[in-house]
Amino acid sequence: MALGKSARKEFPIFSRKVNSRRLVYLDNAATSQKPQCVLDAMSDYYKRHNGNPGRGVHTLTAEAGEEYEKAREETARFIGAKPNEIVFTCNTTESINLLSYVLPAEISHGPILLSKMEHHSNFVPWQQMSARTGRKLAFVPFDVTKPITAKNLEKINSQITPSLLTIAHASNVLGTINDVEEMARFAHENWKCPVVVDAAQSAPHMKIDVRKMNCDFLAFSGHKMLGPTGVGVLYMADGLMERLPPFMTGGGQIGRVDDTASTWADGPAKFEAGTPDVAAAVGLAEAMRYIRKIGIDKIHAHEKKLVKKTLDMLHGIDGIEVYGLPSERGRVGVISFNVNGLHAHDVGTILDRHGVEVRAGHHCAQPLMRQLNVVSTARASFYLYNDMDDITALEEGLREVKKIFSV
Ligand code: ALA
Repeated sequence: MALGKSARKEFPIFSRKVNSRRLVYLDNAATSQKPQCVLDAMSDYYKRHNGNPGRGVHTLTAEAGEEYEKAREETARFIGAKPNEIVFTCNTTESINLLSYVLPAEISHGPILLSKMEHHSNFVPWQQMSARTGRKLAFVPFDVTKPITAKNLEKINSQITPSLLTIAHASNVLGTINDVEEMARFAHENWKCPVVVDAAQSAPHMKIDVRKMNCDFLAFSGHKMLGPTGVGVLYMADGLMERLPPFMTGGGQIGRVDDTASTWADGPAKFEAGTPDVAAAVGLAEAMRYIRKIGIDKIHAHEKKLVKKTLDMLHGIDGIEVYGLPSERGRVGVISFNVNGLHAHDVGTILDRHGVEVRAGHHCAQPLMRQLNVVSTARASFYLYNDMDDITALEEGLREVKKIFSV
């Protein structure tokens, strides 16, 4: 299976134009495009199997249930987990909100440790939990040109004993891959606290093995990895589900409902109240099969080459500031930059006229923007269907931006 231009043939959206130009899609950290096989899998589910899983005894309810559980198995395989450790949610944000509501019952009253590199979805829910429960927030100090590692945790070890460490595996702004494996080891050994990993920007692009990572919880979204919107994943290490209370209650997640009290289903169902988005889970599983057939290591290597080429290109244009690690080493395919003297929205608007789709703004990471001392950046982010031609298009667009604004 192909990468780059040949892969684009399998994604129907690339047959359209944007502003009369070839679509150059460089906003994969926001959401990815969908291959035909994912669209077919979802359509086939609705055409042939649609029923409400686990509700009743008829053939379609059984088939819907089988499809849903097959999707759970594929998801578990993708990250080296067991199916009964996988909870389907709507997205990373819901996965993390869920944890922010159920974890207070289980953890100490120490501070919640996180970083200012987090996306708001791994930041605001903990602020809210802090407000609800009185636990303080503590921030891991870090240098924006380096990854966050266990060394950063060592620096604050004598000052705090956190109740929880929650950290991004890869930054949605800088592309930096943080050493979550070593951090999890450090947090478990020194603080005996659970570790939550936000893998929204890593799971689509690099190998995840939750056993090796040794995290307690890991969250990611389907739509950033060739799957549909509406499905996300929350991995909970074996044994934790039994100890935690449910987040939402209602249909599908109960054991027995008496007039004044209820008991809960065992396993992931306890955290999946209401009719799930089965078609989205089926689409996600197909996306994971597609990625598995190509090989996630190949995808990561391909994106690294694109990052190197883009960094070289950006460094070759006067007046462009690039943020984060100095080279492609230790990055996923995400690069934030600014054209000096311009707001990122101006850059994004002109690039769009050239069919080049980048994200411009604060990227749902305002604390990180403050640390970078900027209000916004432009961001190019890659996936398996991007290639060197896309980087040439980005370069041409940026030269046009500089010409138009005379900077
Ligand atoms: N989390 C997505 C991004 O970084 C929306 O763009």
